[in-house]
Amino acid sequence: MSEVENVQLAEMFYSQIARPILFRLSPEFVHGSTIKIGSLISKSSMACRLLRRIYDVQFPALKVKVWGIEFKNPIGLAAGFDKHGQVHPLMAALGFGHMEIGSVSHRFWAGNPSPTLLRLPQDWGLINRLGLNSVGSEIVYNRLQKLQFQTPLGVNLVKTADPEIAGEEAVTDYFQSFCRFYPVGDFITLNLSCPNTVEGRTFEDPKLLEPFLKKLQQHRLESSSPFKPVLVKISPDLTDDELDQIMELCQSHEIDGCVIGNTTTRRENLKTPQTVLDSFGFGGVSGKPLKKYVQEMVGKVFRKTGGKFPIVALGGVGCDPEMHPAQEVWEYLNMGATLVQLYTGLIYRGPSLLSVANKGLVDILLQNEISSVGEFLEKRQGLASVRP
Ligand SMILES: Cc1cc2nc3c(=O)[nH]c(=O)nc-3n(C[C@H](O)[C@H](O)[C@H](O)COP(=O)(O)O)c2cc1C
Repeated sequence: MSEVENVQLAEMFYSQIARPILFRLSPEFVHGSTIKIGSLISKSSMACRLLRRIYDVQFPALKVKVWGIEFKNPIGLAAGFDKHGQVHPLMAALGFGHMEIGSVSHRFWAGNPSPTLLRLPQDWGLINRLGLNSVGSEIVYNRLQKLQFQTPLGVNLVKTADPEIAGEEAVTDYFQSFCRFYPVGDFITLNLSCPNTVEGRTFEDPKLLEPFLKKLQQHRLESSSPFKPVLVKISPDLTDDELDQIMELCQSHEIDGCVIGNTTTRRENLKTPQTVLDSFGFGGVSGKPLKKYVQEMVGKVFRKTGGKFPIVALGGVGCDPEMHPAQEVWEYLNMGATLVQLYTGLIYRGPSLLSVANKGLVDILLQNEISSVGEFLEKRQGLASVRP
């Protein structure tokens, strides 16, 4: 069978057979089992090789180079799927161009009690309120030390979500995990933006963000580790003033890019009945309903920074039944993103999403007579710099 036939078969199997069964089970159970089985598969190089043959399509035209890192394609796995760094080899075999593990916090944190996940099939979305559960930085660090990464790996860090850790202690907590992970992986993402913890989005407050970024800047100057890009992940729910303040702080403290965005607390125009939403309660929405907020913010940041501040965009890729996932990636690239990530789309479209999106992206490049994503980004940058 050809590569394309393999992928088509895998796609049909997921949508016709696997998804209807999985959607009858609790989302927490499905995720937990996926991670358990996935970590077993990740330990078998033969299984990973087999999956790579089915799913991982390679196209030189999709390569992107940013921060000195070469990405084989622009689509990465978002944080939250592999919170504790257990399934990196499996996800690499599915064809992701990069992966973010985490969020990892310095100390262990149990997160919120179950239920923490709700599927919104009518909206192609999810609500989660996991509340930044983490096994803690030491366990994840030790796990990553034993692995070799062929696919660029980002470690997404967050302050321990314990509300008792506040003020200066919060800065120290966050800084400790930063120092531990700075020498590991290819880039660090600072998650400033989880909406579903008891304490809310602490580090989006400039009063805490500024001293924290100052400490990081100093540490990076003095560190003997090679340069590592540091990105911030922000909420699509920020006001314009909040966004301006964060962007200014990022630029004055040599942050290398931003990830837009985390889930939204907004619940406008959902098709899911209000009674269902009310009975679940609070949480952040991901998937299709998030996309419009992220697109708006990607455009704003791109314009504000003249395209000089690389943006990783995510929200809803693979969650629009009426749109090819490659078209959604292309839209984000045209709005100003340099890389794209996804999570919820994987739940709705299954593991062949990557090959479908990557293959589709090659077709879009051909239709537009563009030789590569790299060439597109260069041209876009040229246009951004001549904009009034
Ligand atoms: C179940 C779940 C858990 C998540 N956990 C994290 C997390 O720990 N850290 C983080 O930065 N983002 C987390 N996210 C947010 C995703 O990384 C992503 O920003 C968001 O889901 C939007 O992308 P999507 O629409 O492709 O899912 C989580 C999302 C979901 C659905």
